[in-house]
Amino acid sequence: MKWGVVAHGGAGSPSSLSDGPAAAAAAAGRLLGGGGGAVDAATEANRVLEDDERFNAGTGSVIRMDGVAYMDAAVMDSEEGCGAVAYLTRTRNPVLVARRVMETPHILLVADGALDFARKCGFGDYDPQTERSRSRLEKGLLDFKNGKRPEWPRNWKHYEVDTVGAVAMDARGRFAAAGSTGGTFPALRGRVGDIAMIGCGIYAGRNGAVAATGIGEEIIRKVLSLTVYRFMEEGMSPQEAVDRGISLYDRSVSVGIIAINRDGTGIASTTEMAAAALTD
Ligand code: GLY
Repeated sequence: MKWGVVAHGGAGSPSSLSDGPAAAAAAAGRLLGGGGGAVDAATEANRVLEDDERFNAGTGSVIRMDGVAYMDAAVMDSEEGCGAVAYLTRTRNPVLVARRVMETPHILLVADGALDFARKCGFGDYDPQTERSRSRLEKGLLDFKNGKRPEWPRNWKHYEVDTVGAVAMDARGRFAAAGSTGGTFPALRGRVGDIAMIGCGIYAGRNGAVAATGIGEEIIRKVLSLTVYRFMEEGMSPQEAVDRGISLYDRSVSVGIIAINRDGTGIASTTEMAAAALTD
């Protein structure tokens, strides 16, 4: 394979939404086919999914209980390092801001600092809320009022945790991973998930790239993306590595993983997960 890309729409996203990741992979594939870099391709795939309001990232992100959408995003390149933002508000494409953080001496900017940085980079004010995300919030708040709250943190199945992500390999053999999310509902104020924690939600190195989706706390506990990357370094194919990663979880825990290396791609999830792979 000369180049490749895999994109997903989040653990729990129905396969009927596969056209979303397929469009994201196609956009990334156009860049890769034209000689573009893996990091630009993985970023572009996430940008397409952030702009698709059916997914929990960018436009359509989950609105937290205080009525605000707080978004996390991260980008990692096998040679140029990584960048991330967490708790970012009122910005259309958090993944593009994370990409700009990668160009600074820092790795992670949060909350007001991330927002200031985004504005200084020219990303304007944007309300990511949609009719659908607002009605989801209303239903969630009503459930809480009526005592239908999940047995936090034991019954994670009820949480909204889908995230978008992509991994890519370019024609020069460089790897990249990127992810973006509106996080979970419900969540305590200040909560940051796996995506902004490098090695947990995403990882890219000289031998491949991995992106995870699902319950952030579960992903962080196992440093999942780095763990799956190590499986590939030990000789597993991407599919074997993601299957092994998924086997670390009980089936009731919502987690998905995608991976790529020079030998191919892998996709696995404990739940339904809209995803697409494109290779040349
Ligand atoms: N996986 C996204 C999150 O838990 O925030």
